[in-house]
Amino acid sequence: MSFKDKIDQQKLPEHVAIIMDGNGRWAQQKGKLRIYGHRSGVKSVRETAEAAAELGIKFLTLYAFSTENWRRPRAEVNALMKLLVQTIHKETKTLHDNNIKLLAVGNLEALPDVTAKELREAIEETKHHDRMSLILALSYSSRWEITRAIQKVAKMAVENQIDPAQIDQDFVGKQLAFGNIPDPELLIRTSGEYRISNFMLWQIAYSELYFTPKLWPDFRREDLYEAIVDFQQRERRFGKTHEQLTK
Ligand code: IPE
Ligand code: IPE
Ligand code: MG
Repeated sequence: MSFKDKIDQQKLPEHVAIIMDGNGRWAQQKGKLRIYGHRSGVKSVRETAEAAAELGIKFLTLYAFSTENWRRPRAEVNALMKLLVQTIHKETKTLHDNNIKLLAVGNLEALPDVTAKELREAIEETKHHDRMSLILALSYSSRWEITRAIQKVAKMAVENQIDPAQIDQDFVGKQLAFGNIPDPELLIRTSGEYRISNFMLWQIAYSELYFTPKLWPDFRREDLYEAIVDFQQRERRFGKTHEQLTK
């Protein structure tokens, strides 16, 4: 029996975010170069995106490259940027076939021109799709996002466009790079690491966290279903008591 059969369609998360980790270790276990692991991870991206869209999930965010990842050896960074161009180019058809809109969040100005161009084109070409939004977090980190938002708000205050007394949580959230995208109810991290690595710190305030030892290139549809079933068995209390939620 598939975990898919256990999913309650009425309790589906609207937004699932994934820290795709473990490509390098997956390749090394096979005696291959790290980039072989990154390439193999593309299939997991395709399967996860298709499965999420078919289920009815509205937003799927994938952490593809952090601001800290720029510190990796130049050859790996270059290979990742090249893989990104090739993947976006090749997978635009998958996006069309599945009615998926592509979005990107992060310091996109730091990306090489060809990568940024390919990304912009795919975003433009898929902007009318409305079954699911696939959000790539690229050259992204929470501290980058929060710092940038503070700069923006400070400038607005200096220019008398806002009154600091007006600033509430809703306003802060909207200034972030994720802007109007609803917070993820479920955050998945692969590869057995129990950390957040500077990902969506504001937005995961009340997300359910799910960690799996699977390395990203081994992650398949069934693993997504399993994570969702696990999520659906939890009681999300948001500070209240169990009794308040069940009466
Ligand atoms: C995740 O896999 C992909 C990126 C961070 C780009 P890693 O490359 O981090 O793989 P491990 O964690 O070293 O195994
Ligand atoms: C987090 O993975 C970033 C992405 C998945 C893109 P890392 O492999 O960079 O995280 P750390 O450095 O091990 O925490
Ligand atoms: Mg890693």
